[in-house]
Amino acid sequence: MSNVILITGAAGWLGGLLAHALKEDPKTPNLQLILADIVEPKAPDGVKSITFKADLTDSGQVDALFTTSYGIPDTVYCLHGIMSRGSEDNFDLGLKVNVDSVRDLLEATRRHGQERDNPIKFILASSLAVYGRPLPDIVTPSTIATPQSAYGMGKLTSELFINEYSRRGFVDGRILRLPTIVVRPGVPVAATSSFISGIIREPLKGLPSLCPIGDSLASPALDLPLWLASPETTIANLVIAKHIPASSFMPHTRVVCLPGFTATVRDELRALESIAGRKALELVQFKDDEVNRRVVSSWPAKFDNAYALRLGFVVDEGGMEPIVRRFKESVDAGVV
Ligand SMILES: NC(=O)c1ccc[n+]([C@@H]2O[C@H](COP(=O)([O-])OP(=O)(O)OC[C@H]3O[C@@H](n4cnc5c(N)ncnc54)[C@H](O)[C@@H]3O)[C@@H](O)[C@H]2O)c1
Repeated sequence: MSNVILITGAAGWLGGLLAHALKEDPKTPNLQLILADIVEPKAPDGVKSITFKADLTDSGQVDALFTTSYGIPDTVYCLHGIMSRGSEDNFDLGLKVNVDSVRDLLEATRRHGQERDNPIKFILASSLAVYGRPLPDIVTPSTIATPQSAYGMGKLTSELFINEYSRRGFVDGRILRLPTIVVRPGVPVAATSSFISGIIREPLKGLPSLCPIGDSLASPALDLPLWLASPETTIANLVIAKHIPASSFMPHTRVVCLPGFTATVRDELRALESIAGRKALELVQFKDDEVNRRVVSSWPAKFDNAYALRLGFVVDEGGMEPIVRRFKESVDAGVV
C-alpha cells in the first residue's frame, strides 16, 4: 500500500517539518509526497516527491495537484495561508488565500475523492484566532468561536466548509486549531504572534528583539497569558491527525483544539533568563504596539485538553523551560 500525501504550504515552516516527520512515521510506509507552494518547495531527501511551484488562488493550478503520476492523494494537508498580521493588514489577500483558495482545494478534494469512491482526508491547520472575547476562563469544545481578526474569520469560514463537506461524506475532514507555536526559527514574520517566538529566538542568537507588549520589564502587560505548544508536539499531532479513525470524532464537528499549555509573556522571559542568563534577557526591548496587543489579547489562553488527549493527541510537559533549552541547543549546534 502506498501513502500519497499532498501538502500545500509545503515551502513554509510547518509544511517542511511535516514532510520530514511523515518520512519518519512508521505508520506511513511507501510515502509519496506532492508538495505545493507559491515558493518552490524542497522535498526531503530519500522520499518520492513531486514539487509544484503553484499559486493556489488559481484553481487550474489546484486541480493539477490531483492528477500527478502518483494518482489521487489519500490525504491533503492544507497548510498554505496568509498569517495573522498579513491578513489583518491586507484583508483582500487574506480572504483570497485563507478562504477562496481553501474552498477550491476542498472542492477538488471532493471531486477526486468521488472519482476514487472514497473520501480523501482533508486536514486543515486552523488556529486559536477563531476565538475572540468575551471567553470563558477555560475554552471547551462547546465554546462559540467569535473571531476578532480577519485571519480568525478566514480560518473559521474554511472550518465551516470542511465540517459541512465531512457531514455530507464529500471529504473526511480533520480541523486542527493549533495553539501558538513557540519557538519558531528563522526571522520575524508577518504574524501578530511573531514576537512570542522572537523574544526567545533573537536573544538566544545574541540579537536584540522587540516585544510589542508593555513598555518595560516591570509592565503589568507582560502578565498576558498565551496558549502555546512546541513545534515538536505540533508536528507530532499533525501526523497523529491522519491516523485517527473518522468514527472517533464527535459526530457534529471535526474541529479539535490541539493540546497546549498556558504561559505568560513574563513566563517566557523568566525561562529565557533561567536558560540563557541575564544578558540574553537584556536583549529584549519593549515598545507597546496597540494593534498587536489588542489582537493577541483577544485570543484565549486556556483550553480543556481532555477531548484532544482522548483522541490520541499529545501535549508538551514542563512549560517553557524545556522548549527554550531545546531551542538553545539547536542554536548552539548551528541548525537554526
Ligand atoms: N505557526 C503557527 O504558530 C501557527 C499557528 C496556528 C495556525 N497555523 C497555520 O498553520 C499553517 C502553516 O503555518 P506556518 O507557520 O508554516 O506558515 P508559513 O507562513 O511558514 O507557511 C505558509 C506557506 O503558505 C504559502 N502560501 C501563501 N500563499 C500561497 C498561495 N497563494 N499559494 C500557495 N502557497 C501559498 C507561503 O508561501 C508559505 O510557504 C498556516 O495555515 C497557519 O495559518 C500556524
